[in-house]
Order: sequence, then structure tokens, then C-alpha cells
Amino acid sequence: MSDFHVRAVAEGEQRACLEVLEQALHARPLSDEAWSKMARSWPAEGKFAAYDDRGTPVGIASSFDTELTVPGGHNLAVAAVDGIGVRADWTRRGMLTAMMAVQLEDIAARGVPLAALHASEGVIYGRFGYGAATYGKAVLVERPRAKIRDGVGRDGVVRFVTPAEAVERVPAQYQRFAGERPGFVARPDQWWPGFFDRLVTGNDGYRVAVHSGPDGDDGFVVYQTIDMRDRQSPDRGALLDIREMHAATPRAWAGLWRFLLSVDLVSAVAGRGRPVDEPVAALLTDPRAVNTTEVLDDLWVRLIDVEASLRARTYGAAEPVVLEVLDRQLPDNNGRYLVGPGGVERTTAAAELRLDVDTLASVYLGHGFLSHLAQAGRVEVLDEAAVARADTLFHTPLAPWCGTFF
Ligand SMILES: CC(C)(COP(=O)(O)OP(=O)(O)OC[C@H]1O[C@@H](n2cnc3c(N)ncnc32)[C@H](O)[C@@H]1OP(=O)(O)O)[C@@H](O)C(=O)NCCC(=O)NCCS
Repeated sequence: MSDFHVRAVAEGEQRACLEVLEQALHARPLSDEAWSKMARSWPAEGKFAAYDDRGTPVGIASSFDTELTVPGGHNLAVAAVDGIGVRADWTRRGMLTAMMAVQLEDIAARGVPLAALHASEGVIYGRFGYGAATYGKAVLVERPRAKIRDGVGRDGVVRFVTPAEAVERVPAQYQRFAGERPGFVARPDQWWPGFFDRLVTGNDGYRVAVHSGPDGDDGFVVYQTIDMRDRQSPDRGALLDIREMHAATPRAWAGLWRFLLSVDLVSAVAGRGRPVDEPVAALLTDPRAVNTTEVLDDLWVRLIDVEASLRARTYGAAEPVVLEVLDRQLPDNNGRYLVGPGGVERTTAAAELRLDVDTLASVYLGHGFLSHLAQAGRVEVLDEAAVARADTLFHTPLAPWCGTFF
């Protein structure tokens, strides 16, 4: 018998639930000021908590509904899971498992075909059907060596905006950055106060610079500079650390990089979670000025409704494959699917590839290749010829990328 129970969070209980999350993530205790900034981003809606026998919340599973761009450009409804935590004195008693079951069933019952999250650790979410579907890289650009090639990124202007202007202007423009890239997550009204506004109006010295091209504002970057001087290197320049950067056009993107690399008294420009195919080195006369220091899983995706999710995306030019999908938590998804450029349908035809729903999720947005997962034993190959076809069908030329933390 469990000594906790899971139910929807009631109005008025949100702050106690956020405190459970902050404590699980080792964040500082939530001040009244921090809560006043977060409150609009943390409504009771979309939240389930685990309560002890006194009715105190000790675990939280939160999500909000938004849209995610899938290959082909369609924006599909997604439950963005933005807070999972269990108080440290309650872990490893099945609390997350119980909350995940309730959350997955709720998302399915509401007809939302996808869920997505950013994982604190790589071992947690595969068992619940999530697969790592986008990756981000960390780059460190040595500024003294980094000269932009002639003529690149010169035809716009970059200007600073105040935090108040950023809070007012950036959200209205954000959807311009969607483009075709799979993995892009739209930011609903409730996302901004707890993340962007809190960041740029906080005390950590973040600056916001906006790029304007022929059609007006078309890109922005949020960064902070970190003093790197010490006794051994009193003259070392600062580290310019990019927190987020989005551009609607290649010119805006190049203009923002030109600006960042022009800031005086900076010895290196760093960014984490950048698209794995972002071609920073190609901007420079010396491509070795760019060091890729990390490539890490970013967005984990869960196909809540496999058929609807598979139907929503487009596929590369290959003959169809028959996939057999296995899903322990949401058994309605179990079955065989004929997947090809002409469409997706359930089928009684013999399976060519058999795989768990988390493995399917990891190629759903176009990252990687099913053949690599087959090599690692994650796909049961019943017809060898289907592997290469599946690679062509699922892989996208543009690497999927999310670009939004939640
Ligand atoms: C991650 C976390 C939510 C797990 O909660 P929990 O209630 O302990 O999870 P459960 O008891 O339901 O565990 C389910 C299974 O996952 C495993 N598991 C869960 N978290 C794990 C972790 N961090 N590392 C390794 N295994 C883990 C458990 O061992 C268990 O495995 P088993 O079924 O083989 O016994 C909790 O440890 C936590 O809050 N951590 C800190 C905050 C955090 O990382 N949150 C996630 C943000 S994305």
C-alpha cells in the first residue's frame, strides 16, 4: 500500500508545489519576490502532485499545453512538461512512476498527441516512453582568433534594448523564428514571466541585443559577461555567455554573431544548447577558433498518440516501412503502422521493424538514424531492407532543435 496519493493540484496550492520542485532541484528557497515573478507561469492547471497523509505536497508533475513543430512544418499540440520533482525524503518509492501514469493518462484523455520535456538526467524518462529527440551543442569561440569573413553579417544593425523593452517586444516577435526547423516549441503567454522576464529583469546582468534587417527586428540575443581575471591572468578578457539567441534569417544570425565577436574586453564567446548544425566555424577566416565542447540531449519527446503523431509529419523519399510499436504505459498505441511519404495508417501487414515507443520518439523529429539504434539492439530487424528505408523516411536534413527551456 502506498502512503501517498496523487491528485490534481487545487487553486492556492501552487506555491507549495513549486517549493517541492525548487528543493528537489537544489534551488534557493523561493522568496516572495521570486514567487511574484513566477506565479503567472505556474497556474494550478496542468499540475498533479503527490501528497503525504497530512495533505502536504511532496512530489510534483507539471505541464502546460503549447505547440511543437514537426518535420514538414506542421505545428502539433504538445504537453510541455515543465516541472518534475520528488522531495528528497520521498524518493525511490514509486512516486514519480505514479505521477507519470496520471500525467500520461491525462494528456492522452485530453487528445494531446505529444509530450516533451528537458531531462535533468539521462536515465529517468526512457521507461515512461520518452526518447531524446533533439540535441544541443556547446561552443566556445576564441575571440582573438575569430575574424568574420569579409562582407558577412554587415547589412543589418544591432542595438541594445532595455529589460522593459525586451519584455514588451520580444514575445510578440518570437513566432517569427519558428521557420521549418523541427523541434521548435511555441512559447505561450504563461511561459514568458517565469523564464524570459525573470531572466532579463533579474540581477544577473543579462543584456538583450536586437538585430534589425530590411524588414525590421529579425533576431535577438540574451547574454551575460563573466569576469575571468585572476592572479595568474590579470589581463584576461571576460567570457561572453549566450543564454539564448534566435534569428529569423541567415543574415540576422550572421549579424548577431558579428556583433557578439566584436564586443571589447572579451576573450571568448560561449553558447550552450546551440543547434548541432549551427555553422559558426563557416563564418570565420579561421574555423579552428570554434571549439565544440559538448553535445547533449535536449528535448525528450513522448508520442502519446502514435498514429496522430506519425501522421502529422512528412517523410523522406523512400518506399514505406511497416513498424510494430510496443508501448507499456499507453497500450492503445500497440500495433503495426505503415509509414511512408504517401501517409500513415494502421496495418495488419507483417512487421519489418519492431521497436519500443521511446526508440521511435528518438527519431521522430528527424535526429539520427534508426540503423544506428538497430546496431545498438534498440530495433528488432525483421526485414533487413527496411532499415535503410526507415533511415531515409525519418531523418531530416535540418537538425531538430528546440531553443526554449521549460
Ligand atoms: C527523478 C525523480 C523525480 C525520481 O523520483 P522517484 O519518485 O524517486 O522515482 P521512482 O521511485 O518512481 O523511480 C522509478 C524508477 O526510476 C529509477 N530512477 C528514478 N530516478 C532515478 C535517478 N535519478 N537515477 C537513477 N534511477 C532513477 C528508480 O530507481 C526506479 O527504478 P526501478 O523501477 O527499476 O526500481 C527524483 O529523484 C527527483 O526529484 N530528483 C531530483 C529532481 C529532478 O531531477 N527532477 C527531474 C527534472 S527533469
